[in-house]
Amino acid sequence: MIIIKSPREIALMKEAGRILAVTFKAMKEAVKPGVSTKELNDEIARIFAENGGESAEKGYYGYPADACISVNEVILHGIPSAKKILRDGDIVSIDLVVKKDGYMADACRTYPVGIVGERQLAIIKASEKCFWEGVSLVKEGVHLGDIEAKIGETAHSLGYNVPRDYTGHGIGSEMHEDPYIPNYGKPGTGPILREGMTLCFEPMLLEGKADVRTLNDGWSVLSKDGKLTSHYENTVLVTKDGYEILTYDGDPASLSGLSND
Ligand code: MF3
Ligand code: CO
Repeated sequence: MIIIKSPREIALMKEAGRILAVTFKAMKEAVKPGVSTKELNDEIARIFAENGGESAEKGYYGYPADACISVNEVILHGIPSAKKILRDGDIVSIDLVVKKDGYMADACRTYPVGIVGERQLAIIKASEKCFWEGVSLVKEGVHLGDIEAKIGETAHSLGYNVPRDYTGHGIGSEMHEDPYIPNYGKPGTGPILREGMTLCFEPMLLEGKADVRTLNDGWSVLSKDGKLTSHYENTVLVTKDGYEILTYDGDPASLSGLSND
């Protein structure tokens, strides 16, 4: 069942989303060569606390950190570590879920570390583009499959694959609610979107083959062929004639992992 949120619930999710937007802007400064992913994790936890929020990832099925921080071939659920030091030319995705006053927001940005190459820039841009192309179709009355198909087609048209087993999802007082939202689909299929639904669209792209594997830390998911990956996500409110991004603070800089110019 897809839960329709009340105006009060939406306001709470928007506040959670604002915290993520502020955190992502801070990460734009914090992500640089020489920094460990553990240092980023701790800064994220500090910003959440300063804003009256807390990580909803920590403890989720035993997840051991405040943030998922995934470098290069790691596509999802990278566990922050003092030993994982960012290097010039890496790309790093920071996937965060914050909870405040019982409601959550979930978003992800992929950032370049220092000076990156064309391949790195291209896959970051592509994950953002897949999201915006898909979300541009969101409004009351459309089928979820329309958006899923648009995300998948955009990824393929840019030369990327998407993993089959990891999806977007509804969100609210739970991190993962109905519906599940694959990054591929068929127009005209699936549930019909209604005003007040809150959905996470999260294109995950693979430069190489779609096959992924999980490390023996039990969490980190990486491309089997070791090629680059990228991930972009926002929590989106469906409205009568469109959508609203809830993981946004009014500053466009909060929406992209790339620099503002
Ligand atoms: N942020 C991820 C998502 O999109 C989930 C994080 S898994 C966790 O849905 F274990 F880290 F919480
Ligand atoms: Co998500």
